[in-house]
Amino acid sequence: MDISSRARSIPPSLVFELDARVGELRRAGEDVVSLGAGQPDFPGPEEAVRAAQRSVEGGNVGYTPASGIPDLRAAAAEHVGRVSGLSYEAKQLVVTSGAKEALALALAVACDPGDEVILPSPGWLSYGPMCQAVDAVPVPVPGDPDRGFRWDPAALDAAVTSRTRAVIVNSPSNPTGLVYSRDELAAIARVCADRDLLLVSDEIYWPFVFDGAFVSPASLPGMAERTIVVNGLSKSHSMTGWRIGFLAATPAIAKAAGSLKSHLSSNAATPSQHAALAALRAGDAHAEMMKDAFERRRGLALAAVAEMPDVVLEPPAGAFYVFPRVDAYYGGDITGSVALCASLLEHERLAVVPGAAFGEDRCIRLSIAAADEVLAEGLARMARHLAALREGVAGRTA
Ligand SMILES: Cc1ncc(COP(=O)(O)O)c(C=O)c1O
Repeated sequence: MDISSRARSIPPSLVFELDARVGELRRAGEDVVSLGAGQPDFPGPEEAVRAAQRSVEGGNVGYTPASGIPDLRAAAAEHVGRVSGLSYEAKQLVVTSGAKEALALALAVACDPGDEVILPSPGWLSYGPMCQAVDAVPVPVPGDPDRGFRWDPAALDAAVTSRTRAVIVNSPSNPTGLVYSRDELAAIARVCADRDLLLVSDEIYWPFVFDGAFVSPASLPGMAERTIVVNGLSKSHSMTGWRIGFLAATPAIAKAAGSLKSHLSSNAATPSQHAALAALRAGDAHAEMMKDAFERRRGLALAAVAEMPDVVLEPPAGAFYVFPRVDAYYGGDITGSVALCASLLEHERLAVVPGAAFGEDRCIRLSIAAADEVLAEGLARMARHLAALREGVAGRTA
């Protein structure tokens, strides 16, 4: 039987594919350094583990309301409100299976088939496929490479058509580390208000800002009504596999997202919800500890990359990636970022993600959410491989 054209048009997530390949190589006994997946190397908060244990051992594992257990919705409302500088009620929150589900629900609620959604480019690789999954049309709008890939508000405005329904903003950004200032967000918000668009604000990296300050576009005058905030615990609390995210929006949007979720996936996993509640109650100390580590590792990465000839890297202001420009090394077999990453894995057993996956083929993405010694080893392998390419050795044998 044929699968739908929609499903045919959506490739698997390259990051998950890369992770699977790393797993295969490791099972075959290879010494692979992975700076691929965006996963903090720290364990999650102990409070979360204990709460999940209590939930499982106490048999507290049945269905919950689809939008989440009331205490968690209330705690998430308080948390998201504090982060975004607004005040949310529990009924404005939906607890989801990771931020991914929150984004998918936001798009499903916002878009009719054929509606257009403006995406950052370079930008996170799942936004486009998520739009396609709800029959919306992704419209990547390139940021200015000379200004840290910031959007020029005029270019943003020029991309709006009569079918545009929403704009996705991701600050701090995966993969670039771009953090928009309040004034820059105000200019983006003005386009949304003038053209009557929803703004979907993916705030999953909010605690990890090294330069400047985190600002949620929802907190700008008049924007609370037209912003769907997406957040979660995967990055901020190092709880990736627990799959807890949040969507915060007007009561009407939250209600619609909750109804959809009640059909699609019911509640987020019950033990994970109890873990999330405990993690939120434990406060921000865990995130602050990770932020300090990521900032230190950003320094390690910048220093190492500075020694690599013709690699260009602006310090990322936030998140936990570096996105160096490496196209000086393209040529011969190295036809672009995909080939370079394949070559790094082949020759140096270093896993990093091609910039092409994010819409910028001149760059590659390295996660700095890896232990210092893993990061140092990964950077050393990258330097060695680039040196070999310069000498024309590895490219010929790849
Ligand atoms: C920008 C961005 N948004 C959302 C997500 C998804 O988060 P979650 O694992 O909570 O679904 C990621 C994960 O890599 C991400 O980088």
